[in-house]
Formats: sequence, C-alpha cells, structure tokens
Amino acid sequence: PAHPEVLPVGTTLDRYIMHRQHAFAFATGELSQLLRDIALAGKIVHREVNRAGLIDLTGEVGLQNVQGEAQQKLDVIADVRFRRALTNGKEVCALISEEEEGILFTGHNNGKYVVAIDPLDGSSNIDVDVSIGTIFSIYRRITPVGSEPSVEDFMQGGHEQVAAGYILYGSSTMLVYTTGYSVNGFTYDASLGEFILSHPDIKSPKNGTIYSCNDGNLDSYDEAVKKYLTVCRQRQYSARYIGSLVADFHRNLLKGGIYLYPPTSKNPDGKLRLLYECYPLAFLAGVTGCLAVNEQEAILNIKPVSLHQRTPFYIGAPKMVDELLECYKNEK
Ligand code: AHG
Ligand code: MN
Ligand code: MN
Ligand code: MN
Repeated sequence: PAHPEVLPVGTTLDRYIMHRQHAFAFATGELSQLLRDIALAGKIVHREVNRAGLIDLTGEVGLQNVQGEAQQKLDVIADVRFRRALTNGKEVCALISEEEEGILFTGHNNGKYVVAIDPLDGSSNIDVDVSIGTIFSIYRRITPVGSEPSVEDFMQGGHEQVAAGYILYGSSTMLVYTTGYSVNGFTYDASLGEFILSHPDIKSPKNGTIYSCNDGNLDSYDEAVKKYLTVCRQRQYSARYIGSLVADFHRNLLKGGIYLYPPTSKNPDGKLRLLYECYPLAFLAGVTGCLAVNEQEAILNIKPVSLHQRTPFYIGAPKMVDELLECYKNEK
C-alpha cells in the first residue's frame, strides 16, 4: 500500500491511528483498537509508576518468574494491567508475557491477534526512580479465527510481526511504535491524558559515538566484543548504560549508538528474551535504519523455538553494528 501522508507534530495518538487506518484500504480497525488498548494500559502503568513510592508499590513480591528473576511489585502490576486491557479489548485471542510461563488465553477466540509483551522492562530501576519501559510485539494469528489459539501463533518469526513498539516511562512517558512503514513517537501529556505525536518518522543516525553494555561482565565477553569495545574506548566514545533496555535503546536510536548484551558466564545465551524484547525492538529498529543481530544472523531471522528463549543482542546504528560484526569475522 502507498505510504500514508505524514501527520503534523501535535496530532493525538487516537487521531493518528484513525488516519492510518483510513489510509490502508484493507484495515478493519481491530489493530487500531488493539494499539489503543496498549496506550490505555500504558497510561495506567504511567500513573502507577509515578506514584509507586507513595502507595507501597516498590520492592519485591517474594515470587520468582519463569526465568528465575525476583518479581518486583510493579512487574506484576504492569503484567496485570496489560493483560486486562488486552483482554477487555477482544481483538487479542492470546498473549505471552515475561512474567507468565505459558500462553494466556483471553477467551476471545474470534480475536485475530496475539501479543508478546515485556510488561515492565528494567525492573532493577523501579525503586530508584530511573527510566523503565514496556515492550510489545503483535502478530496476526495463523490458527483459524474462532478456534483455540496455539503456540504456533507465537512461533511465526520476527518478520511476521504486524506491529511492535515500546513505552518508555522516563523524564517523559513516550509511546514509540511501528506497523512497518515508519516509526513514530508520541509523548504523553498527563494533564490531557493523551499521547501526542512529538517524534514523527524517526530515523537512526548511520553512525554514532555511544556504546551501551554492562561493563561488569567484560571479562566473560567474546574476544570480538572485547576488541570492539577497545576500539570504542580508543575513539573516546561515550559509555552510557541505564540497565533498562528500552531506555538504552531509545537514547541510542535518537542520538546514534550501539547496545550490546553479549553471552556471559552467567547467561551463556545472552540475557534478553527473543519474543518480547529482541524481536520487537529489532523490527522497529529496522524501519529506522538500525541493525539488530546476534553474532551469527539478523535477529529477525532467528527461528523461535520456545516462548522465553534468549539470544545475544546487538542493536544500533548500522555502521557501528557492522564494525562489531567485522570484529567477529576477524576472530574466525
Ligand atoms: P527485565 O527488567 O524486563 O527483566 O529486563 C531486564 C533486562 C533489560 O532491561 C536490561 O537492559 C538488562 O536486563 C540489564 O541486565 P544487567 O543488569 O545484567 O546489565
Ligand atoms: Mn524481569
Ligand atoms: Mn526486559
Ligand atoms: Mn520485564
């Protein structure tokens, strides 16, 4: 379909979504409604995040999720909020979440979509007022509408995503998403209760001077990664690492940079999860001109085999990612 005309800064998310829907003759409106449901849950989580310190929402729940991480109260609250919004909307027949081991069936078997979500990204930053996020990935189901959805709906592979994005609860709250044509950022105006288009058609710089990784793991990184990081230091690039993937990615996207989560002794397959962290950011990044890879292939080409699988993850300005891959080639 033709590229729909770009709307001006200041357009509300609702209006933007409606405009896009009309621009695509085939759009039935369900995806639009689904995106609105995500925005609604995002507003609710924004509210919870902003008052967490006042109403006893900080700290651990005392339970572990399927990946063995201690769940924070806001991890669970965000999970519940997104699940509820996506269930109430009726367009989603099933979802998977970082915080839930198996598939969650919404009971709406007529829903055409499935969603993979990291409800709250950057758990370790919740209690210290540092930026955190939400990451989401949307597929059109492949099982027949009306039937029970199944695991295959989630195993379609990164290229099949129909929309993906994130919400960053930072110095402002922002929703950034794509349906594959352009990436647009909407800043939340809490006084109006609206997301407003503030960053139309985001493109990544071709090159950058920021690198982001957990330096404490350096000793267990691959030789190629160590070499690349040495080059970054020789060039006096800036080291920036928040420890919230969404926030690190967003900064690098706007300013030009590379994010690295290599294999470590603690996490030999890397730490980040393919379906609800790496795929959605890789899909969105691709539209902006970024590259997203592990040491072997493009992230979107990785064959999914399980709901919570992990992968090493390198994402950012194309020139920087290419240089990292060069280091891997030279190691062979
Ligand atoms: P989550 O909080 O959703 O479990 O994700 C944590 C991830 C990601 O947000 C972050 O970039 C990374 O873990 C930080 O890991 P380290 O603390 O190992 O650097
Ligand atoms: Mn977690
Ligand atoms: Mn995460
Ligand atoms: Mn999370």
